Amino acid sequence: MADILIRNAEIVTMNSSEDIITGDIRIKGSLIAEIGSGLTPQAGETVIDATNRTVIPGFIQTHIHLCQTLFRGKGDDLELMDWLRKRIWPLEAAHDEESLYYSAMLGIGELISSGTTTIVDMETVHHTDFAFQAIAASGIRALSGKVMMDQKGGDVPAALQEDTASSLQESVDLLEKWNGYGGGRIQYAFSPRFVISCTEPLLTEVRDLSARYGVKVHTHASENLGEIEIVQAMTGMRNIVYLDHLGLANERLILAHCIWLDAEERRILRERGVHVSHCPGSNLKLASGIADTPGMLHEHVSLSLGADGAPCNNNLDMFNEMRLAAIIQKPQHGPTTMDARSVFRMATIGGAKAVGMESSIGSIEVGKKADLALLNLRNFHTFPSYDVDPISRIVYSATRADVETTIIDGEIVMERGLMKTMDKEI
Ligand code: GUN
Ligand code: FE
Repeated sequence: MADILIRNAEIVTMNSSEDIITGDIRIKGSLIAEIGSGLTPQAGETVIDATNRTVIPGFIQTHIHLCQTLFRGKGDDLELMDWLRKRIWPLEAAHDEESLYYSAMLGIGELISSGTTTIVDMETVHHTDFAFQAIAASGIRALSGKVMMDQKGGDVPAALQEDTASSLQESVDLLEKWNGYGGGRIQYAFSPRFVISCTEPLLTEVRDLSARYGVKVHTHASENLGEIEIVQAMTGMRNIVYLDHLGLANERLILAHCIWLDAEERRILRERGVHVSHCPGSNLKLASGIADTPGMLHEHVSLSLGADGAPCNNNLDMFNEMRLAAIIQKPQHGPTTMDARSVFRMATIGGAKAVGMESSIGSIEVGKKADLALLNLRNFHTFPSYDVDPISRIVYSATRADVETTIIDGEIVMERGLMKTMDKEI
């Protein structure tokens, strides 16, 4: 892998002062080695002339289902529980090794070509090893795990229902194979689907295993009013209260959606350091609701962004999520609410905090991983008028078409729409 020198770029650092500078970035191995101006190329370096280009930290999406990429358009115009029962569960049950591999690779292609460099991903019950193989070959940074569904009934197809013991054992086997792969580029995340699909013994064992191995737990919660009613009937508690009661609410937990919360649940999220993955595109399309992100930010709940699965949203593009996260709040809360910088923070450093990697990803700083996207913001739809904050231009005007190059772990994984490492041996 050649070292890289990016010259003469506008650099949106997202360091603690959120500096935006013009200069050069030297990448050695997987790390940012130097940031400066007038850096001279060294022997063997790949030089990227970034004149009139903008370099940003790669986006970190904290809720993705690569296994659902092939289902795009198959479950349109349904709400959550019907969408799962009628479309998504039968389709996940029908996956084989090959279809899962290509579903994952197709999703990763979309993600890295739109500037996403890290994902928190939830797979299906079976064949998850093949999704990990796609992740390994593509070069994307990922926390992923097989979905866990050991609760009987609830219209889940028989093919997706598993025993508690085998669900746990298969998860641990995958963890032992993949956690730490590629110098830590891949991590395992236990992925109980949601309270409805899991038994209490499974959830408490996941709690203990995540502590023992020091890995994340990734699940859905409080997305839909019907879901909350079922959880209440099953447990006698509200969703987040139940997760806390089981000891799962802690800084290792990444919770997708969190739309319908009461004050006590928000207090639990804040006090326990739980990370919320806000998915505005999915929340709108599945008619789930609008999460109170201004309220959560005000209360210092950890917030990041995710596109969810392709059929939740028809799109895995972080530009879309950032724009939606900003504009859906404005009619109710006013135009300065969820400003461009707030949502850009959620898409970068906020995601890094959620995955426990704020010292190594989420901003452009010497010593951090070289996970970057290079944008051309001089296309017709983004061309600047004078003195416009580039972050504002990125959030409100940029699209995936503006991403020219994506670098992960110091490696160019995508250049002008072409995935570089798709066929690499693993
Ligand atoms: N809740 C449980 N499973 C899912 C899923 O696959 N997608 C979404 N959006 N919500 C869920
Ligand atoms: Fe989801």
